[in-house]
Amino acid sequence: MSYARIKGTGSYLPARVLSNQELERIVDTSDRWIRERTGIRERHIAADGETCGDMATVAAQRALDAAGLAASDIDLIIVATATPDQVFPSTACLIQQRLGAGPGAIAFDISAACSGFIFGLDLASRYIGSGGARRAIVVGAETLSRVLDWTDRSTCVLFGDGAGAVVIEASQTPGIVSTHLHSDGGQEPLLNVPWGISQGYPALDASNGTIKMRGNEVFKVAVRTLGAVVDETLEANDLQRTDIDWLVPHQANIRIIAATARKLAMPMDQVVVTVDRHGNTSAASIPLALDTAVRDGRIQADDTLLLEAFGAGFTWGTALVRY
Ligand code: UT7
Repeated sequence: MSYARIKGTGSYLPARVLSNQELERIVDTSDRWIRERTGIRERHIAADGETCGDMATVAAQRALDAAGLAASDIDLIIVATATPDQVFPSTACLIQQRLGAGPGAIAFDISAACSGFIFGLDLASRYIGSGGARRAIVVGAETLSRVLDWTDRSTCVLFGDGAGAVVIEASQTPGIVSTHLHSDGGQEPLLNVPWGISQGYPALDASNGTIKMRGNEVFKVAVRTLGAVVDETLEANDLQRTDIDWLVPHQANIRIIAATARKLAMPMDQVVVTVDRHGNTSAASIPLALDTAVRDGRIQADDTLLLEAFGAGFTWGTALVRY
């Protein structure tokens, strides 16, 4: 058995920035409402024709560069996304080819909505821990702008596009210290995109092909559930709240993030916040936030990080990481 440690991070955001002021011209909303209720000021939107795989490829290459590794060094690629390029092959296989990772590496996608990156990190660290892989790329990438109803102010102001990635590799010392994952399929009606291929290609329109969310109900469950999983993580590792150097949360809403920080008695300057500039990028949000704080020098080697996510399913979880 060996441990898995993060060796490099990378991310990508589309060039186009969509501000709250622009949204005021599209739906009946205000910059003030969006900032006060969510913390979001702007989000990035993929260009026409720019896909999840395009963004994932750049984020993964940047993570490889940061790790000082070549794609041919990688033997496992996991992409977490709800907005893949194609039905198949997986986006992971598409980026394997584009990165130049050798044939023979394991590559597949996973679907766990906003928790997808944490679920992917868990899986990759288990592969490495059991000797099934030595070096892995885990990517979270989303083009959520393609599944937004731009007439629904309760959802279209919340989400954005982007990709984030980490390279992890086998290590003698713990990096991914523990992961704590959960799901509850009974909550599906609160947050979904109800269209799917196996329904026999129902006519696609804004009523079924876009994100539907009972935001206020999701909010309450998210705060309660994240509080519980944070406790579970601390207890499992016999840690005090003060042992965590950085909270790297899923970036859905600054009020949810602040509630989790309060639970940890953690000042907001130990919390990585990107929701103001990225909006909610679902599976991409945690690796985007992580890469931001690594590159600006806040997160340093050997810091203890708590990554947490909550999303459709419901799915939720944490990863305790020694960086
Ligand atoms: O990432 C996956 C998990 N997702 C989440 O964690 C999201 C969780 N939910 C949230 O972040 C929040 O619930 C929202 C940001 C979605 C909504 O905030 P809220 O404080 O829960 O607002 P609300 O849904 O209770 O709506 C309050 C009012 C309503 O008006 P009335 O009925 O009080 O007259 C809404 O119609 O705000 C109105 N409203 C808006 N007003 C201006 C809803 N959206 C908007 C908007 N602009 N964009």
